[in-house]
Amino acid sequence: MMNDYLNKYKEELDKLNEAGNLRSLKKISPNDIKVNLSSNDYLGVSKKNIPRPKGNSFGSGSSRLLTGNFKEYDLLENELENLYGRASLFFNSGYHANIGILSALASKGDLVLCDKLNHASIIDGIRLSSADYIRFKHKDCNSLKQILTEKRDKYDRVFIVSESIFSMDGDEPNINELIEIKKKFNCFLYIDEAHALGVRGEKGLGLAEEKNCIQEVDLLIGTFGKAMNSIGAFIICDSIIKDYLINKMRSLIFTTALPPIVISWNYIMLRTIVKMKMEREHLITLSNKLRKKLIELDIKTNGNSNIISILIGDSQKCVNLAEYLHQKGYLTFPIRPPAVPKGSARLRLSVCAQMDWEDVKDLPLLIKNYCNEN
Ligand SMILES: Cc1ncc(COP(=O)(O)O)c(C=O)c1O
Repeated sequence: MMNDYLNKYKEELDKLNEAGNLRSLKKISPNDIKVNLSSNDYLGVSKKNIPRPKGNSFGSGSSRLLTGNFKEYDLLENELENLYGRASLFFNSGYHANIGILSALASKGDLVLCDKLNHASIIDGIRLSSADYIRFKHKDCNSLKQILTEKRDKYDRVFIVSESIFSMDGDEPNINELIEIKKKFNCFLYIDEAHALGVRGEKGLGLAEEKNCIQEVDLLIGTFGKAMNSIGAFIICDSIIKDYLINKMRSLIFTTALPPIVISWNYIMLRTIVKMKMEREHLITLSNKLRKKLIELDIKTNGNSNIISILIGDSQKCVNLAEYLHQKGYLTFPIRPPAVPKGSARLRLSVCAQMDWEDVKDLPLLIKNYCNEN
């Protein structure tokens, strides 16, 4: 009987394999890699010699709601509040944040409107809530307005949810138009700044800082797992929402808090990235130069940030291309369903600030030649 169950799992794995969508844990040997184009360490802070915090515990012993709420949390949240000008609350990861916030705030009688390409953690959070949800066409404000015109009156609270820089393609929504829509239809605006934090805005606070609209984003999420090169995440919101989440958010309440050493490190990272304006400028210049070169060779790219996605289509072809680039010393990963829609596998190049043109200049031709020959 048990073998029957196992065989069914095996059949599913075989099907994924046939479609080129099987995942495995890859062993990465730093010696094989000339250039790592798969890292989210966008500012290259892991290579910087930043003094480590001393004397902090590596364990926290319990949830933040019990004895895990060390003084280090206050320091970090105060710093976030100074920078963003509103209340903040810190969580264990972006995944914890996204699965917990909407499932706490949105309930029966509410509606969540979610961009089609939002990250899996956002989708999981919506599914955990008892609200209705509709996915609107990627970045399409007209599609969003149409849904709101038809549905707004039928619901109590409505949440519009989008990433600010989309994780897979590096493209961005029109955040100012989203703000106009949320005001017109009286909705909450939820923006996940995971891939903009550190990279966009004068102080690296994200796209909302760059567009000068932090105060208009009701629920602004950032994670320390990307450019901050650490772990943890936060929300910037009204203090009533903060108090509500402390009382209702299950992925905050029912999990062991991050240890004080990580929170101290996050405080240091936050203060460090705010000052890394030069790295941000270099990152944008280098990414634009690489994107321009790819486009000149007729390679179709998406986005306008330091994440450059190249649409390949077939999953197996994308896996083979990533493997070929790996052999040449470039670490990239194929992005395949279910992370992206079926038949739209893509290569995601993540340009980081410690790279220079010499590191990436050969890539466009390598990709072009491989695609022509295969
Ligand atoms: C848009 C977005 N939000 C949230 C997360 C999850 O963040 P974390 O890695 O901190 O759990 C990711 C991670 O890939 C992401 O891309």
